[in-house]
Amino acid sequence: MNKSSKIFIAGHTGLIGSAIIRKLRLMGYARIITRTHKSLDLKDRKRTESFFSKEQPEYVILAAAKVGSIQANDTYPAEFIFENLTIQNNVIDLSWKYRVKKLLYLGSSCAYPKKCSQPMKEESLLTGSLEPTNEPYAIAKLAGIKMCQAYHRQYGAKFISIIPANVYGINDHFDENAHVLPTLIKRFHQACLKNSRKVILWGTGKPKREFFYVDDLADACLFLLKKYNEPEVINVGVGQETSILQLAQKIRKISGYRGELVYDTSRPDGNPRRLLNSSKVSALGWKAQTSLDTGLQLTWNWFLKMAKK
Ligand SMILES: NC(=O)c1ccc[n+]([C@@H]2O[C@H](COP(=O)([O-])OP(=O)(O)OC[C@H]3O[C@@H](n4cnc5c(N)ncnc54)[C@H](OP(=O)(O)O)[C@@H]3O)[C@@H](O)[C@H]2O)c1
Repeated sequence: MNKSSKIFIAGHTGLIGSAIIRKLRLMGYARIITRTHKSLDLKDRKRTESFFSKEQPEYVILAAAKVGSIQANDTYPAEFIFENLTIQNNVIDLSWKYRVKKLLYLGSSCAYPKKCSQPMKEESLLTGSLEPTNEPYAIAKLAGIKMCQAYHRQYGAKFISIIPANVYGINDHFDENAHVLPTLIKRFHQACLKNSRKVILWGTGKPKREFFYVDDLADACLFLLKKYNEPEVINVGVGQETSILQLAQKIRKISGYRGELVYDTSRPDGNPRRLLNSSKVSALGWKAQTSLDTGLQLTWNWFLKMAKK
């Protein structure tokens, strides 16, 4: 891949796709191809094929997907399995048909078994039952990984898959279906504005999660596009865990909020740990650069800017 390669970023308006675009532009890549969801629905095989035939991308990063919270997954399981399978079936198959030199597929850590031993190693995929609430989504994500491997095996296609940790950062989603980190940012921000006496934390605050700044993920994607050619999926994370309470305390500090932090233990905690084993990507020479404190500050600054608009 060089600076004049034609690269299609599917899902470029999303959290991860937009970070990849920022990174590519920063590095001087000049031929980036994008289409909004509105202008090209990747579920539409015919229109997606005309796009591939006309644009002939050399590299594809598949960051287009239907993504949402556990609650959204629980409410719309049919949409989560159908839309994700259809988008990835179209993009992966057409990438092969139109001789794309390399494709990077974004998997998800929910593809690991619910009771996976921690930290989660790539070999643990498909060794146990999935979390039932987002099983349809996780099955679609697993199918995408298997599809890349099958095209690699049968056609020799260089289609690689990665599993990133929980991603956060610029362009994150702050709606009612948001993940824990943006939800806390929004809650502390509102508590500051309204001078509220308390901020509520769901659960006990004890579960630990791995938070991965989106610009670091973009960096990892480009690194792996250049250096990684194996069909085996590869984890990408920071290798560090933070409890929900520690996260809340960090966001509280950034926000300047002085009120009380209250636990709502009637809410479920979820898994006590979800940490990826990222030793494979480390051995290739890649490491995340952004500390959680820095990433949170950058996300907070961006959120404030958006909130003022
Ligand atoms: N966020 C995470 O923590 C995380 C962690 C691990 C893996 N991943 C994976 O990374 C990928 C991207 O996630 P994300 O967080 O960046 O999601 P996101 O912010 O929701 O972005 C998804 C993108 O896909 C587009 N899209 C959705 N359906 C489409 C369709 N039918 N046709 C064309 N475009 C469509 C969206 O456009 P509209 O918004 O206009 O619909 C948006 O640009 C997903 O595969 C996800 O599983 C995410």
